[in-house]
Amino acid sequence: MKTYTQAPLPFQGQKRRFLKHFKNALKEFSPTAIYVDLFGGSGLLSHTVKSVYPDATVIYNDFDNYSQRLENIDKTNTLLADLRVICSKNPNRKDKERLSDELHREIIERISHEKGFIDWVTISSSLLFSMNYVISFEQLKKEKFYNKVRLSDYNAKDYLEGVHRIKKDYRDLFAEYRNDPNVVFLVDPPYLSTDTTTYNREDYWKLADYLNVLKTIEDSSYFYFTSNKSQIIELCEWMQNNGYCHSPFDGATTVTVGTQLTYNAGYEDIMIYRNNN
Ligand SMILES: C[S@@+](CC[C@H](N)C(=O)[O-])C[C@H]1O[C@@H](n2cnc3c(N)ncnc32)[C@H](O)[C@@H]1O
Repeated sequence: MKTYTQAPLPFQGQKRRFLKHFKNALKEFSPTAIYVDLFGGSGLLSHTVKSVYPDATVIYNDFDNYSQRLENIDKTNTLLADLRVICSKNPNRKDKERLSDELHREIIERISHEKGFIDWVTISSSLLFSMNYVISFEQLKKEKFYNKVRLSDYNAKDYLEGVHRIKKDYRDLFAEYRNDPNVVFLVDPPYLSTDTTTYNREDYWKLADYLNVLKTIEDSSYFYFTSNKSQIIELCEWMQNNGYCHSPFDGATTVTVGTQLTYNAGYEDIMIYRNNN
């Protein structure tokens, strides 16, 4: 089985920078457990568990229908091959340089001929300035374009091999597995106050929603992902120390990875895990 170190198609919030630590921490968990990836996103954590533990049962919650993007990868590659040709007419051939209005028109014309599914996230990451995403043709037309088209095709061969894909609200999925002692929950919700435009439901993640997720890790074996921007761990520890509640992070192991944003001060991404068995 081919092992991927990042999701085969662009995905905001994928956990690629944690993979080394995640694999390492998995050693403390059972090779035959049921791993339930409640917020599957690109499926990178599900893929990684299955590649490390082929005998594990892995449930991937594909809430965003990422697998539809994977199924259409050939179609996307064909479109990108044409965009690559158009972009190469850029006289200066500098990737960071804005494409002319004429090339912009040509690109829009080419995309307007596409029928059926279009992978807007991949198109965005091929044409728009860093971290800008659109989810429709109307939005795309208004954007300035840059030549960021990859030189090689995308490939997702065997990526979700052996993984069980489902698509439902994380609460329903949690309810199905909560009483099974052999379960490890992978809990990677959208971060508080971050851009979730490319996710299934916009503007949904408010503080209360975020706190509700903690119910999934109260008594479970889990991996939980957050960032120090959310201060959720600090909040829970304070509540415990002041006698309000038992922190779901009590007795867990924390791993942090620093992030340097170009337009902002750095912050830390956090993986915190606990094996109850
Ligand atoms: C931070 S991303 C997960 C990234 C993933 N671990 C990866 O490595 O690609 C959070 C995901 O939760 C999804 N999500 C949002 N609301 C949800 C819900 N109610 N139930 C399940 N998933 C949800 C988002 O659409 C997004 O795909």
